[in-house]
Amino acid sequence: MKNYVIHDLPDYFKQYKKSIKNPKKFWDKIADENFVWYQRWNKVVKFDMEEAKIEWFKGAKLNITKNCLDRHLAERGDKTAIIWESNDPNEEAQYISYRELHERVCKMANVLTELGVKKGDRVCIYLPMIPELAVTMLACAKMGAVHSVIFAGFSASAVTSRVNDCEAKMIITSDGSYRGNKAIDLKGIIDEAVEKTPSVEKVLVVKRTNTEVKMKEGRDVWLDDYYPKASADFVTKIMDAEDPLFILYTSGSTGKPKGMLHTTAGYMVYTGYTFKNVFNYKENDIYWCTADIGWITGHSYILYGPLTNGATTVIFEGVPTYPEPDRFWAVIEKHKVTQFYTAPTAIRSLAKESSSWVEKHDLSSLRVIGSVGEPINDEAWHWYNDHVGKKKCPIVDTWWQTETGGIMISPLPFVTPTKPTYATLPLPGIQPVLMDEKRNEITGNQVDGNLCIRFPWPGIARTIWGDHQRYKETYFTAFPGKYFTGDGALRDETGYYRITGRVDDVIIVSGHNLGTAPIEDSINLHPAVAESAIVGFPHDIKGNALYGFVILKETGESRDKDHLRKEINMLISDTIGPIAKLDKIQFVSGLPKTRSGKIMRRILRKIAEGDFSNFGDTSTLLNPEIVDEIKDGRIN
Ligand code: WT7
Repeated sequence: MKNYVIHDLPDYFKQYKKSIKNPKKFWDKIADENFVWYQRWNKVVKFDMEEAKIEWFKGAKLNITKNCLDRHLAERGDKTAIIWESNDPNEEAQYISYRELHERVCKMANVLTELGVKKGDRVCIYLPMIPELAVTMLACAKMGAVHSVIFAGFSASAVTSRVNDCEAKMIITSDGSYRGNKAIDLKGIIDEAVEKTPSVEKVLVVKRTNTEVKMKEGRDVWLDDYYPKASADFVTKIMDAEDPLFILYTSGSTGKPKGMLHTTAGYMVYTGYTFKNVFNYKENDIYWCTADIGWITGHSYILYGPLTNGATTVIFEGVPTYPEPDRFWAVIEKHKVTQFYTAPTAIRSLAKESSSWVEKHDLSSLRVIGSVGEPINDEAWHWYNDHVGKKKCPIVDTWWQTETGGIMISPLPFVTPTKPTYATLPLPGIQPVLMDEKRNEITGNQVDGNLCIRFPWPGIARTIWGDHQRYKETYFTAFPGKYFTGDGALRDETGYYRITGRVDDVIIVSGHNLGTAPIEDSINLHPAVAESAIVGFPHDIKGNALYGFVILKETGESRDKDHLRKEINMLISDTIGPIAKLDKIQFVSGLPKTRSGKIMRRILRKIAEGDFSNFGDTSTLLNPEIVDEIKDGRIN
């Protein structure tokens, strides 16, 4: 595995330099030495950043599932590929070997073929976290169909718009799903969604909850009526490097969701390489990422990255707090998990519970712990480090996006010294640059600006499905010649990066640029505070003033709220400066969050402004009911 494993800090700097000096040679070797191909490429990379046209490994022929499954059969056929852990702790876990997974994928590919799916067709998958989710995705990849997984928490109308956007021929769903103590009628949601999706010919239904569902004659079929009879022989489709692998929708700041298109070869190479290094993956590890496969984190780091490396990956159906708030810790102990990868929002919610929930489990198997999805605040970082990692496991704070396909900026465990709240250094091949509003590059250290990437990397999304113009405008026009991430970042004196949040979250108060994340961090330092979000609202003199929405650990009606407000502002004053003090502080019981855990600041901004006219699309909110509560409690 030459050029694949980074051993120590000097090696990182050496590899990084090589990757920047000659990216073609760098990726050529990695692709060549670590993956199986039917045919080599004629060109490593070809790109035009103005037109947003990017191609990697052009001319190569491959199938990603040969790399995920077939090639492991000889050496690790009996090794567990997937450990499936049910929502119900009393239901037995499944241990699916590479051989069995390969067989299941081949059978599934035959079922899909029989039902009319062909190479290039789009298949939407709306399933809970059960093995069939992985199996159907891999079956699509094996036959050259393009999967588009829709997180099985989205509403019917969100499903309809995605299915119509990619004109899917088939939807794969289940009768129902379990989440904690709730059972959800997935098929019912799909029935409603497909009323307005003319492209859908078949709905394939997996049994999970054994609940009664309506089946529409000629359209809906049970997997159980096809799968047992299906042959386990399937001839893998030979794909071109740039053939589409999947579409995954991500919400834009406005308008309809963007169908990010990822293609085959570059995505495979990039997720494989980054998985190996960022998680310090070793042959006998048990790796667990708690994300849902319906998000890019699940695609890249539950499925494709781990499987191309021949790893054992855990798929967990449940939620962190069921049956009790120690489920994560119980699962780590049960399966002797070595790498644990989760989101700051989960960390914060579990840190709110008594630490005895963590202490009662043996977490000594852990070697590396990771964070993804949003900036991890100082308090959450330390709680994670102290209670979960026991100060022995490096925290990999991984910055990346649906669009980037894989991790871009992250510490490498046992290589990069970590620093709380810093994603630290770019991975080899990644060239971050900070740009100011006038489109000039900001050089030097201890500066902050708009985070852009200078040179393409293999995992970058190639387009927005059906709308290349939007792709170009969203990512390649603000800073010509560069990919614009939409995030702000700060570079410290050692060259480490700290992601400060979405650039649209920057609030200018009296001419000062203030990032929301550091202010929230300092509010969260207050012992009574569980979580907070701040937004700007128009102010006659300052231009903008700050409005804080604060969740307290205990509702404590008895507490003197005005006194608390003063203390919070003193903290901000002390940690950031009086300029960052909040004009208004409203105590709330929750924040409007998307299902991926992001605060929908657009709604908070409107409430702060006192504009209740139109909150826009709230279909992706996990807790829409909170909006009214916050609105009613707004401070004038
Ligand atoms: C946005 C991308 C990448 C998979 C999950 C989210 C934010 C992501 C970090 C991090 C600070 C982070 C950024 C980014 N983000 N990871 N480690 N530190 N911010 O994918 O839904 O496409 O969101 O999430 O703002 O742009 P996504």
